[in-house]
Amino acid sequence: AKYTMVDQETCIACGACGESAPEVFEYDEEGRSYVVLDSNNGIEEIPEELLEGVEDAYEGCPSDSIKMSNKPFKVLNK
Ligand code: F3S
Repeated sequence: AKYTMVDQETCIACGACGESAPEVFEYDEEGRSYVVLDSNNGIEEIPEELLEGVEDAYEGCPSDSIKMSNKPFKVLNK
């Protein structure tokens, strides 16, 4: 399983990630990207069919703002 989230502190709103994976990345009012799967919490598994696009976005982000991990980024509170 793979998880992703965007570091909005470093995102420069370039818009490349939404080109690579429009189902996964959308933009806030300032044009910064966030992950729509889980409101950018990095806790929802990336669906298999969207993984390639996310990997393209991850590699293509000019500010390295897209994070990927094999584990969820946050632990859910019970
Ligand atoms: Fe931001 Fe990188 Fe996407 S700069 S808009 S996260 S490609």
